[in-house]
Amino acid sequence: MKVFIIGVSGAVGRLLAGNLIDRGDDVAGLVRRDEQRAQLSDRGVEAHVAELADLTADSLAPMLTGADVVVYTAGSNGGTRKVTAAIDGEGVVKALEAARLAGVSRFALVSVLPEAGRGHDLGEDVEFYFAVKKLIDVTVSTSDQDWLILRPSLLVDREGIGTISLGPAQPHDEISRQDVAATLAELLHEPRIRKRILELTQGPTPIAWAVLANVP
Ligand SMILES: NC(=O)c1ccc[n+]([C@@H]2O[C@H](COP(=O)([O-])OP(=O)(O)OC[C@H]3O[C@@H](n4cnc5c(N)ncnc54)[C@H](OP(=O)(O)O)[C@@H]3O)[C@@H](O)[C@H]2O)c1
Repeated sequence: MKVFIIGVSGAVGRLLAGNLIDRGDDVAGLVRRDEQRAQLSDRGVEAHVAELADLTADSLAPMLTGADVVVYTAGSNGGTRKVTAAIDGEGVVKALEAARLAGVSRFALVSVLPEAGRGHDLGEDVEFYFAVKKLIDVTVSTSDQDWLILRPSLLVDREGIGTISLGPAQPHDEISRQDVAATLAELLHEPRIRKRILELTQGPTPIAWAVLANVP
């Protein structure tokens, strides 16, 4: 399988790329800097260097040509409103359209649990981030693409435990980025799971079983 990852230089993106390469997949992606391209190239990832905010759907599409699936895991992670709008908002719209232009029907988005910040008075910029993420879920889920939206709970950097809870609704808790990447890789290898929003948090079920349990 050929996978193009937008956000391949990020924490989840890098772990996903490694996981897919270990499975024998071809991985490409988009990065902002030459040194990122070189580092990823050493790990077998073909990276294209461009600033996402400067690309159009037309200029991004040729990079996606030949992929079986586009994964969008770039995110501002609650940066300024301008970056949030560009990366968590317009960037996804652009990538979705570019995938369509490139003839790539599968599109997977890493989103967020909408209630993640509830009760924590996180400030207006973070509220804006959650609002943008939710609206983009609407855009992706009403598109004609073969879409999949994964909403992890709070991402943490500890080692993965290999077990999760995955389904249409999960409580907000936390999950290791390694387990998110492993779950995403497993989902990408299960094309019967399509046009679904799945929420993900740490839990008791081995990843492969949890994914199989969501096959319609
Ligand atoms: N933090 C949480 O608890 C949480 C919870 C649920 C979901 N999420 C979502 O999970 C996803 C992945 O998270 P992560 O931890 O892997 O994030 P991360 O390590 O911060 O990676 C973010 C990626 O987005 C790219 N990016 C950021 N700003 C950009 C810009 N202005 N132009 C182009 N690319 C830009 C980064 O590129 P560079 O490497 O060049 O910076 C990087 O590849 C995000 O969409 C996030 O919203 C986060």
